[in-house]
Amino acid sequence: MEKKKIETYFTFADISELNIEDQQLIANAISSMNLAYAPYSGFNVGASILLANGEVVNGSNQENIAYPSGLCAERVALFYAGARFPDICINTIAVSVSSKDFQIDDIVSPCGACRQVMAEYEEKQDKDIRVILHNPNNNVLIADSVEDLLPFKFKSSLLKKY
Ligand code: THU
Repeated sequence: MEKKKIETYFTFADISELNIEDQQLIANAISSMNLAYAPYSGFNVGASILLANGEVVNGSNQENIAYPSGLCAERVALFYAGARFPDICINTIAVSVSSKDFQIDDIVSPCGACRQVMAEYEEKQDKDIRVILHNPNNNVLIADSVEDLLPFKFKSSLLKKY
C-alpha cells in the first residue's frame, strides 16, 4: 500500500488584480447571473464562456417546480457552446454567484455534474479550460484546468471498445 500526495495549485485573487479580459468575462457572468430563474433555491448563478474564436456564450441556472428538471448555469452555457460551436475550443469559463437569501463568503465551486461536463469538453478539445470562480465579495479563484478541479474524472476512454 502506498499513500501519495497529489498537489493542485489554484490562484486566489481579488477581481481588481485580474486582466481586463478576465474582468470582462466575470462581468458577463454577473449579468447572466441576474437573469437566473431560481425561485426555489434563491441561489443565482451565472456562467460566461470565452471561446477560442472570441465568441462569448452565457448561461444562468434555470429551475423548475419538478426540481430535477432544472439545470445549473455552467451546463446551460456549456451545452449551448457545444451545440452552437461544436468545433471551437473553450478557453475560459467564468462563474459568478449571488443570493438574496444566503450569505456567501466563500468561493463557490461548481457541482460535480458540471465539473464532469467541463472535464469531458476539456478532454475532447485536448486543451486546458481555465475556470474562474467569483463570489459577491469579489474574491476569485482561478484553476488553470478542469483537471485541477476534478482529478480522477470519469473518462470517455474508459468506455472505449477493443
Ligand atoms: N447551481 C448552479 O447553477 N451551479 C452550480 O455549480 C451549483 C448549483 C444552481 C442549481 C440550483 O438552481 C441552485 O444553484 C441551487 O442548487
